[in-house]
Amino acid sequence: MYNDNPTLEGLKNEIVECKQGEVFHKENPEPTPDADTRKFYIESYGCQMNFSDSEIVASILSEVGFQSTRNMEESDLILINTCSIREKAEDTVRKRLRVFDKVKETRPGTLVGVLGCMAERLKTKLLDEEKLVDLVIGPDAYRDLPKLVAEADDGEKGINVFLSREETYADISPMRLDSNGVSAFISIMRGCDNMCSFCVVPFTRGRERSRDAFSIVAEAVDLYNKGYREVTLLGQNVDSYKWENPETGNRVSFAELLEMVAQVYPDLRVRFSTSHPKDMTDEVLHTMAKYENICKYIHLPVQSGNSRVLDLMNRTYDREWYIDRLEAIKRIIPDCAISSDIIAGFCTETEEEHQDTLSMIELANYSMSYMFFYSERPGTVAARKLEDDIPLEVKKRRLQEVIRLQTQISYRHNQRDIGKTFKVLIEGDSKKSDQDFKGRNSQNKMVVFPKQEGLKPGEYTWVKIHDATSATLKGEIVEK
Ligand code: SAH
Ligand code: SF4
Ligand code: F3S
Repeated sequence: MYNDNPTLEGLKNEIVECKQGEVFHKENPEPTPDADTRKFYIESYGCQMNFSDSEIVASILSEVGFQSTRNMEESDLILINTCSIREKAEDTVRKRLRVFDKVKETRPGTLVGVLGCMAERLKTKLLDEEKLVDLVIGPDAYRDLPKLVAEADDGEKGINVFLSREETYADISPMRLDSNGVSAFISIMRGCDNMCSFCVVPFTRGRERSRDAFSIVAEAVDLYNKGYREVTLLGQNVDSYKWENPETGNRVSFAELLEMVAQVYPDLRVRFSTSHPKDMTDEVLHTMAKYENICKYIHLPVQSGNSRVLDLMNRTYDREWYIDRLEAIKRIIPDCAISSDIIAGFCTETEEEHQDTLSMIELANYSMSYMFFYSERPGTVAARKLEDDIPLEVKKRRLQEVIRLQTQISYRHNQRDIGKTFKVLIEGDSKKSDQDFKGRNSQNKMVVFPKQEGLKPGEYTWVKIHDATSATLKGEIVEK
């Protein structure tokens, strides 16, 4: 805990100086219309961290003269940033590699590179199994990409899956890909030290490390100056963020970092993900309550509602602890929405234990959840020590029950918003009509409403809700 750090003020002052003076980021180079410029194409799978990493990769490549393209047929370098979290995620990547093989046949000389978690998990095996893959690069080795590409140009297969204890890419200004120009991710830490028994992330991402707080604040300032109005601070377990300034010895906790980013500009919204129930402190909740621009939304994955299963999962909290955290949220931030991740059919889960997960969904009143059935991952504690004994049909049926209940709860949650007025940050045109805008409220709900002249993406407006489905709120702009 770092909340009573007497030198925090000093650190904040240093950051304000850095905000006003220092030019921290190099600008992304403008694309050069030179026909000889080599082009890269990148596809990303998995979590937000992976999408954020792809922006770092894009920045590294643009520094050495590559230009990004959305058309893989015209690219010289095809990259796929992969996920290993479930077997299905890896199957998807293998299917995409078959598609890339075809491009390679028609464009000899095109290089194919596998990045991210699957590269890290499979290492050289990937080069043996996938003959047309030229490069395999793990999440901590992206700085090596230009060198490996040059080697691959000479016909050598390139691999670097070294996991670092220090790398945070703090000095790299991400090149925003597929951005709406309004909201952006900022990675605040990498890796995970938690060892949940089902999870492959500690093996694919390595040890947890936190990024320099100055560089995080500076990135938020830079984004704001470019017109962005929302940042999401990313980490596998943001509550365990801790950074020590090597020069002053000042230490920054997650609550303190959150406060610093919130203080940058009052109209820059701050979100974060993911919160681990074992580490989410009241201090973080009080900071959220204190700042209007810290969004009232917490992604707090429960995984299971049963204490025995949670113990087997090595989540290090039980049902009671989780309920205590829910109550703390309700007490400190009454208007906060909470969402979750849920795994159905973990090893040895009984029908009664599955019912505990259903009752937790009801009790927590989640606004939404990401829901999965358990997929055994090689090398994890669960794979080594527990039997994956729930038949696939049972896992799928339990998952369906979870999804059905969550959909009902989400619908009810959204129906309760009818008649309320929310401040919405406009993100762009709605999917269905260019007459409508879409944007999010503080609780992270998507709101769709008819456009009004003079308003544009990146601006705030007040919307009164008159209709709701389980996924979207609909309303109209009102004066506030
Ligand atoms: N760091 C986050 C989760 C990252 S992985 C946290 O601790 O909450 C995202 C989600 O994938 C997890 O929350 C979990 O619900 C799911 N997941 C991870 N491993 C899985 C597996 N082996 N099978 C099924 N779902 C899994
Ligand atoms: Fe995986 Fe657990 Fe770490 Fe999340 S906290 S990434 S589930 S090991
Ligand atoms: Fe997947 Fe790796 Fe993220 S396994 S969920 S891409 S950390």
